Amino acid sequence: MRIAIPQDTERFGAVLIHSVQQVWELDAGLKQKKNSNSDPDIIRRISYEELHDIEEQMAIVVPMRNERIKLVEGVLCGIPNNCLIIIVSNSPRHQVDRFALEREAFERFSRFTDKEIIVVHQQDPAIAEAFRSGGYEEIIDPQTKLVRSGKAEGMLIATMLARLAGRKYIGFVDADNYFPGAVLEYVREYAAGFVMSTSRYAMTRIAWHSKPKIVEDTLFFAKWGRTSRNTNQLLNNLLAEYTGFETEIIRTGNAGEHALTMDLAMQLRYSAGYSIEPYHYINLFEQFGGLQGTTLQKKLIQERVEIFQIASRNPHMHDTDKGEGHIEDMTYAAMQVIYHSPICPAKLKKQLLEKMRKMKLLQKNSEPEDVIYYPPLTQIDLATFLAPLAERRYAGLLIPAEKHQSLPEIVPVS
Ligand code: GDD
Ligand code: MG
Repeated sequence: MRIAIPQDTERFGAVLIHSVQQVWELDAGLKQKKNSNSDPDIIRRISYEELHDIEEQMAIVVPMRNERIKLVEGVLCGIPNNCLIIIVSNSPRHQVDRFALEREAFERFSRFTDKEIIVVHQQDPAIAEAFRSGGYEEIIDPQTKLVRSGKAEGMLIATMLARLAGRKYIGFVDADNYFPGAVLEYVREYAAGFVMSTSRYAMTRIAWHSKPKIVEDTLFFAKWGRTSRNTNQLLNNLLAEYTGFETEIIRTGNAGEHALTMDLAMQLRYSAGYSIEPYHYINLFEQFGGLQGTTLQKKLIQERVEIFQIASRNPHMHDTDKGEGHIEDMTYAAMQVIYHSPICPAKLKKQLLEKMRKMKLLQKNSEPEDVIYYPPLTQIDLATFLAPLAERRYAGLLIPAEKHQSLPEIVPVS
């Protein structure tokens, strides 16, 4: 892969946000040409070996609920063989057990391709028991006593499983992507971000090249969705309030396609449902922004948290049949987490209220509802979490308790 070096980097305490990087070549050949004219200060060539080395240590998570199996198979087909795949499904099990059909199809796929795949149901009582015995009650729905529904909650399950499988990196791709080639590209770009990073606390976020739509019988390649435009602007406003400089650096506020080092993934706080991605930024600023009352430590100031934003080349085409209400929910969720953050300045809060009322996301005189937050996953004892899962089909892919000392160490930031 050949990729542009970031043109610009903004800093918020220990958090470095690199500007969007263009991909120049998806495949840059086996070796650098002898008399190469490519300027290494502008463009970086990342070798197969470097990408492969990261992919071998990466788990790719596919969260899904009620997606067509054929569509998901395409996604699995795009994930490089060396990545461990973790599918967390929240599809219904009654009247028809859709999950049983999914699992059967994915296990067959795993046999045919020699890919390691963990398939888990979000509402599996053993998963709920694993969190409960690990003292992580926040994720349990008080009514059902099972893990709450939602994409974020599925992602947290997968993060624990990836950690227990000994992976050092974790990436996410939605299950409803129509282009296997785009999925392959995202995973390569996640790996490229980690190759470029100089910190053990790093995140790669994909800025989609475009989202094709049919407009009056013609294919139009839209750059931004409505939700993304709104979230990015608000996050940039937040940044500007602190730095005093207007900025457009954040382009990936809603990036469903993103990856993290395990060191970072285990230590972030998360928010529920679709607000999880914008909250990554908010929580990074809260924890490592160096503002009063935050948990920034000297060590981390030296280490830094690095955020890479990589512009993919494939158009992003996913299932768009999920309705207008869904878009509104996502827009609302992003605004809600920004509003409730203790670092949200009064001026921005006022702007948010006005905007939400104008967009009819909020009634007059009411405030956005409270958000459900999840504490860092590091607080869960791994052996305790693992015990209830001993009988599960995928248990063989997890590191047994007696070997947990061999798992990569998570270096605490607070
Ligand atoms: N495990 C699990 N549990 N998966 C879920 C759940 C759930 O309760 N709900 C949805 N999913 C899966 C979907 O099947 C899909 O694979 C993925 O999560 C994203 O859900 P979509 O409903 O397709 O969301 P979207 O396409 O509108 O939004 C995506 O892109 C946004 C950026 O534009 C999501 O990734 C958002 O999080 C992201 O902000
Ligand atoms: Mg989708």
